Amino acid sequence: MATLLAATRLSRPLAQLAVKSARLKDAAAGRRWPLPEVCVSVLSQPGRRTYGTDVEEIGERPVLITGCDSGFGYALAKYLHEKGFIIYAGCLLKDQGRGGSKDLDAMKSDRMRTVQLNVCDSEDVARAVDHMTATLKNPETGLWGLVNNAGISTFGEVEFTSMDTYKEVAEVNLWGTIRTTKAFLPLIRRAKGRVVNISSMMGRMANPARSPYCITKFGVEAFSDCLRYEMRPHDVKVCIVEPGNFIAGTSLYSPDRIQAIADKMWDELPEIVRRDYGRKYFDEQIAKMESYCSSGSSDTSPVIESIAHALMSISPYTRYHPMDYYWWLRMQVMTHMPAAISDRLYIY
Ligand SMILES: NC(=O)c1ccc[n+]([C@@H]2O[C@H](COP(=O)([O-])OP(=O)(O)OC[C@H]3O[C@@H](n4cnc5c(N)ncnc54)[C@H](OP(=O)(O)O)[C@@H]3O)[C@@H](O)[C@H]2O)c1
Repeated sequence: MATLLAATRLSRPLAQLAVKSARLKDAAAGRRWPLPEVCVSVLSQPGRRTYGTDVEEIGERPVLITGCDSGFGYALAKYLHEKGFIIYAGCLLKDQGRGGSKDLDAMKSDRMRTVQLNVCDSEDVARAVDHMTATLKNPETGLWGLVNNAGISTFGEVEFTSMDTYKEVAEVNLWGTIRTTKAFLPLIRRAKGRVVNISSMMGRMANPARSPYCITKFGVEAFSDCLRYEMRPHDVKVCIVEPGNFIAGTSLYSPDRIQAIADKMWDELPEIVRRDYGRKYFDEQIAKMESYCSSGSSDTSPVIESIAHALMSISPYTRYHPMDYYWWLRMQVMTHMPAAISDRLYIY
């Protein structure tokens, strides 16, 4: 029985992750969104619940993705474009002619539209709503998908982290997600579409030295749950994607960035904290962070396919867990077992 339970636990993320493209029947005659390629779980067995594997005919449905200058956002924009979506790629650096927007514009596709979008700037967000309303084929049929992907990260123990740092990370990850969602919900409701929020495994389980990031992702989880309940009567689905460690495949951290954060943190530490913890301890923590950042997967496809499934499946999952088995198991233990056990297993 114990083996069966363990096997069931372990097979679930496999079923979610192992998705492949398949060409299904053509769009119904007369549909304006002729469509094509879809995601199908290869591991679903006949006779089992298969609701998660049924897929929508997507066609040229519009989707807005935030944070497309690099990482998941950039890869997702290209992936969904290939699937036939109309992409509105929100880019922080478009106005400056830098970042991913240059490459995405260079595709010269009518379905790849970059938009200047700083999720911390209400005016930028309002301008993006106006721009999209003006350029959607029919604003009354709305926006099919909003992927809140823009994010930043940092690290540092509570005593090492300034209030400015807490606020800076929350401004992008949490308030940015909420601001953008509120602004686009009228368009999403019209389409009976999808909101997909990129959280993190750190939005489910906390970790020492990650409080400035964890609190924002826990916030994204709570916001998404509340929104999901509220949107159900409107037929809008709200999904959360909780990636594990894919830092090696994105620009969230680089060795230079880690060093820059560390130098600034040490310089700004209150004297008493600096003295009590000491430089040796501080350097050890930075080394741990460097090692964590270089230990992740550089293949971001599980994340991209999870987001695509959330946008394309008739019955998408509430939560997606693209992560390796170590982190998946750790997350289950941390979220389901008494803290007295899980803390001892993974933290102390
Ligand atoms: N990589 C991982 O292992 C991992 C794991 C769990 C969750 N996540 C989450 O996944 C999401 C994407 O991150 P990523 O790993 O792909 O990192 P990334 O490569 O750094 O991508 C994040 C993007 O967000 C953009 N951005 C930052 N501040 C913004 C703002 N105010 N407005 C609009 N865009 C802004 C960044 O633009 P600039 O490049 O111009 O700064 C960048 O293009 C984030 O929410 C992150 O927390 C990542």
